[in-house]
Amino acid sequence: MSSTCTIVGLGAHLPRTIITNADMERMVDTSDEWIRTRTGINTRHFSQDNEPCSVLAHQAALKALEHAGLSAQDLTHIFVGTFSGDYNLPTTACILQDMLGLKGLPAFDLAAACSGFLYCLETARAYIALHPEACILVVGSEVTTSRLNLEDRTTCVLFGDGAGAAIVTGQPRLGGIRIVDVMLKADGSVGNLLTVHGGGSACKPVLGAPIGPEYFVQMNGRDVFKHAVRFMSDISISLLQRNNLVPHDIDLFIPHQANIRIIEAIAKKLGVNMDQVYVNVDRIGNTSAASIPIALTEAVQSGRIESGMKVLLTAFGGGFTWASALLQF
Ligand code: ACO
Repeated sequence: MSSTCTIVGLGAHLPRTIITNADMERMVDTSDEWIRTRTGINTRHFSQDNEPCSVLAHQAALKALEHAGLSAQDLTHIFVGTFSGDYNLPTTACILQDMLGLKGLPAFDLAAACSGFLYCLETARAYIALHPEACILVVGSEVTTSRLNLEDRTTCVLFGDGAGAAIVTGQPRLGGIRIVDVMLKADGSVGNLLTVHGGGSACKPVLGAPIGPEYFVQMNGRDVFKHAVRFMSDISISLLQRNNLVPHDIDLFIPHQANIRIIEAIAKKLGVNMDQVYVNVDRIGNTSAASIPIALTEAVQSGRIESGMKVLLTAFGGGFTWASALLQF
């Protein structure tokens, strides 16, 4: 794809309620020590009832627009990556469009679980190839807690809520972040290792029947762990090779923030020092599709990334789906 694609604004939003590992100890049979040593997570943010997916997305979108120096009226498309939208219908993207005071422009949700933001980013690149004048709002927003069984200690300690947004245009801009390349992959044959079955057409809700554990995230943690490490390492190397680069050419890696041990294993496989890796999983846990845009926004706003740097993003999620993106600052 030869057209220029540039991120001209970034924004992130986290709900105000912070849940510590001590809070988790009061909810399920777990310990701060177990959570920290197995996952690296100390705290995560939980949405309240008045903070559904669209509200988090809206806050992140407003910040991204402000960062870009644009108004909502400048947008031409809205893409939202999520597995925990407000409803089955209407879509969160359409709700967000209305919240932004817009009508008419195309808006849709994209379901690729934790890879949702990078899937949306590649979709934005494709749209910009067709419509070079496009100005696309790309959001990853999740209320993972709406799909967590808060009695299941094997999953509920891992996740948090949040949103991140990017404004993507086809115009080069001073200070903009060039999207050099994106690679997407999926393998449905191992999809049963990480599921939320309940409510789908193959697992229909029955009026008046109790909500069972199938309505929440269920996973084989060990197998997910192994696939996450292998797929994120492999796709990072493939994307770098496609651009005649090696891991040492990258100034900062921003991997999906699922677990510090997954992140460290990927860094080891790539042969990069943890100094080159952005980590916030300790503070916010796994925010699924919001993980990458929140981390990218934080890295930019904290001054961790300077002009001229190359940054590699990589994500992995249910499906399975996985993805990588190369950015030039
Ligand atoms: N507190 C205390 N004990 C726990 C907890 C908990 N919260 N959860 C599980 N345990 C117990 C298990 O029951 C098990 O006990 P047993 O030996 O008596 O059966 C024991 O701890 C060890 O369990 P393991 O599964 O071996 O623990 P492991 O070291 O594999 O860590 C973990 C589990 C953290 C889930 C890990 O497998 C993991 O991170 N997997 C990746 C999952 C993930 O990140 N998924 C997110 C979605 S995909 C993505 O975003 C990449």
